[in-house]
Amino acid sequence: MAKDSLTITDNRTGTAYEVPIADGTINAIDLRKIKTDAEDFGLMTYDPAFMNTASVRSKITFIDGDKGILRYRGYPIEQLAEHVGCFDEIGYLLLNGELPNPKQLTEFQKTVNSHAILHENVKKIIEGFRHDAHPMGVFISTVAALSTFYPEAKNIFDQEIRRRQIYRLIAKVPIIAAYAYRHAMGLPYVAADQEMSYAANFINMMFRNGDKNYAVHPVLEHALMVLFILHADHEQNCGTNAMRAIGSSHVDPYAATAGAAAALWGPLHGGANEAVLHMLNQIGTIENVPAFIASVKDGKGKLMGFGHRVYKNFDPRATVIKRLADEVFAVTGQNPRLKIALELERIALEDEYFIKRKLYPNVDFYSGLIYQAMGFPLDFYPVLFAIPRTAGWLSQWEEHILDQEQKIARPRQIYLGYDERPWVPMDKR
Ligand code: SDX
Repeated sequence: MAKDSLTITDNRTGTAYEVPIADGTINAIDLRKIKTDAEDFGLMTYDPAFMNTASVRSKITFIDGDKGILRYRGYPIEQLAEHVGCFDEIGYLLLNGELPNPKQLTEFQKTVNSHAILHENVKKIIEGFRHDAHPMGVFISTVAALSTFYPEAKNIFDQEIRRRQIYRLIAKVPIIAAYAYRHAMGLPYVAADQEMSYAANFINMMFRNGDKNYAVHPVLEHALMVLFILHADHEQNCGTNAMRAIGSSHVDPYAATAGAAAALWGPLHGGANEAVLHMLNQIGTIENVPAFIASVKDGKGKLMGFGHRVYKNFDPRATVIKRLADEVFAVTGQNPRLKIALELERIALEDEYFIKRKLYPNVDFYSGLIYQAMGFPLDFYPVLFAIPRTAGWLSQWEEHILDQEQKIARPRQIYLGYDERPWVPMDKR
């Protein structure tokens, strides 16, 4: 009768070991019993970048990379993007596991909005940066600084205190982002408007000008809300892995979120949306696309916004974003770089180099084109990723610190350095 186990024969000793299989995995620690003798430490697994290692059990987000499936708490991303009325519903869903009913949603919005203000000293921190400081550097530093304003946050196992920090962060990250922009532009701050939706309030804080008739365009509000929904969580990506690893030392959530945002900033991760626009600007015209593709195939750089560790067919978010672009461009006018992006995609999807490596447009390929059309500066795009992802990071962080199976993250290594050797006095070196 079939058994959920592996039988591993160690050919060094001829000994056979039975290792149980559960949830499609084996426990790495079970390999430690495979030894050559009593002195032997036992076997470990070696998995740089965790290409084939599950480090957590989670109920938050499910991805199937081959089928292009992404679900938050079981709800398909396509349905959430189409039907959700405000980003708060997603924040509630990720944190609590269920879509809120009207009463729960109102209560959640009221609670989050009650924190939608920055301490005057936090504004001074933002103002300490140069006008040309990268907004992601301002974002990461200011989020970390919040830890010093709310020392109660270290009580991470007090549910009421923990949730208060989570609501504070969800409320404050769009304000920090908007104020970083206003500081860079030399513009006065626009206070959060609690009557507006999460997306509209952010656009308002960013772009409200002296015109008393200024109003957030509903199409742009809807587009940004959908983009926030699409970016809110993505299971154990690099930034979330950082959030969980930092959180595993039981530091407060502000420090952990700053670390997660730092990981997101990298061009291989959430910094790719900015890198895509730099790439499109570098290509410049459609005529230059074939030469650029050839340079990528020659190993001279990457096609930014393409490829994914998990999605090996298509990123379902890219499909939604591409449709959203048409909605936005109908209001803003088409982004002139769109033609280059479409030609890049057309050629790449027909080219064996990209097909063989299963490289398809990811969430970052088209998002930057929309952000640019909406008037966001190029270096702001990773911040636009970090704002909604904060709700995902915090949901994953809370799940992690409450998971009884988890301990402080502390991987092992394969040591390749010197064996023991004697000290060498300075006059002998
Ligand atoms: C995000 O993990 C997540 O969920 C992340 C994210 C989220 O929501 O949190 O989805 C958000 O980060 C999306 C990815 C954004 N990054 C980019 O667009 C940057 C460009 N893409 C890559 O650098 C790359 O595709 C990664 C980092 C996304 C994935 O890299 P992997 O899984 O480590 O794959 P790899 O680098 O080992 O590549 C496999 C092969 C290599 O070729 P060979 O050495 O086998 O010849 O594919 C090639 C790579 O050189 N390759 C690319 C490429 N991506 C991979 N070649 C050209 N252009 C690319 N973009």
